[in-house]
Amino acid sequence: MAGSTFGTIFKVMTWGESHGKGIGVVIDGCPAGIPLSEEDIQPFLNRRKPGQNRYTTKRAESDLVEILSGTFEGKTTGTPISLLVWNQDQRSRDYSTIAQLYRPGHADYTYDAKYGFRDYRGGGRSSGRETIARVAAGAVAEKLLAELGVAFTAYVRSIGPVEVDPANFDASRIEESSLRMPDEKAEQRALVWLENCLSAQDSSGGVVECIVEHLPAGLGEPAFEKLDANLAKALMSIGAVKAVEIGEGTNASRLHGSENNDCYQENEDGTVDKTTNHSGGILGGISDGSPLQIRASFKPTPSIAQPQSMLSRDGHCVTETIQGRHDPTVVTRAVVVVEAMTALTLADHLLLNMTSRLDQIKKVYGK
Ligand SMILES: Cc1cc2nc3c(=O)[nH]c(=O)nc-3n(C[C@H](O)[C@H](O)[C@H](O)COP(=O)(O)O)c2cc1C
Repeated sequence: MAGSTFGTIFKVMTWGESHGKGIGVVIDGCPAGIPLSEEDIQPFLNRRKPGQNRYTTKRAESDLVEILSGTFEGKTTGTPISLLVWNQDQRSRDYSTIAQLYRPGHADYTYDAKYGFRDYRGGGRSSGRETIARVAAGAVAEKLLAELGVAFTAYVRSIGPVEVDPANFDASRIEESSLRMPDEKAEQRALVWLENCLSAQDSSGGVVECIVEHLPAGLGEPAFEKLDANLAKALMSIGAVKAVEIGEGTNASRLHGSENNDCYQENEDGTVDKTTNHSGGILGGISDGSPLQIRASFKPTPSIAQPQSMLSRDGHCVTETIQGRHDPTVVTRAVVVVEAMTALTLADHLLLNMTSRLDQIKKVYGK
């Protein structure tokens, strides 16, 4: 199975299935000297963990990370960093009814069409549990970026029709709130919406936004390796993500140039910045030093608890109900996944950018 590797210099390879022994990642290309312990990574995994509230899957996993290699005396050594999380609460019997059936909206049919086999227990590599490895690696990427003062804020921007009002934005409540929404009023309405989804044995989609501050200008290349192109690929590689927007996003197609352009302004202290940030911090595929603003739209969780018409492996339609434990919406747990994939992309571009100018190369070699 190809396609489990991501990145050029800061390169990660994830491995493991939902109902296998464990999930892990090997990070190659991480610079030496970054302070790193399991305590640095665990809080990120805790944000992704199942069973956090009524609206996340009830699967009981501690998701404790172990660092197997790549650190010595609390710092990275520049050698491959291997991270491991054991699976504990696999209830494969929940999946016995769908062993011979393809669930609507999930990857069952396409997996089988491609490989001629599928691990029906929880979706194998297409399970949301695969994102554990991304989050663990993303925590390391964020540690590297934090050394340069780069800071992340990721949150749930909308669930179903309920959207956060920027006027009520309170970043301090994101991690305290059960739905990771920075607007209390919106969250109350979203809770009602999700209760209705649950009683109808249905699920909901939503949008996760990630804002990255203090990102240096110059990350990204002008042609095929555009920063926005690589971020879009990174976020679209997360299960259930159906669209990615940067800055004004699709709304830019409805604006005039005079509305969408970010004009420059000179401040009294001589610094220069932009009056607005419709570009979301990227121009011509290269970061412009203003906050990066990126959004991922998630579809509703495909596994729902109501009877649905499924396709059997021998080509017949069967009405069946999916057992097992599933998130009524994936967005609350996906916040940290979006943040991790953004961090992995930025860490890679940060290192790639170091070779773009002779004066920087000379500086590294003291010439
Ligand atoms: C963090 C996370 C948790 C998820 N949990 C579930 C789940 O409990 N049940 C489910 O059917 N899909 C879940 N998904 C979505 C599926 O993985 C995804 O819809 C499926 O792989 C098909 O891929 P596609 O939607 O991108 O086409 C989750 C996704 C993420 C990112």
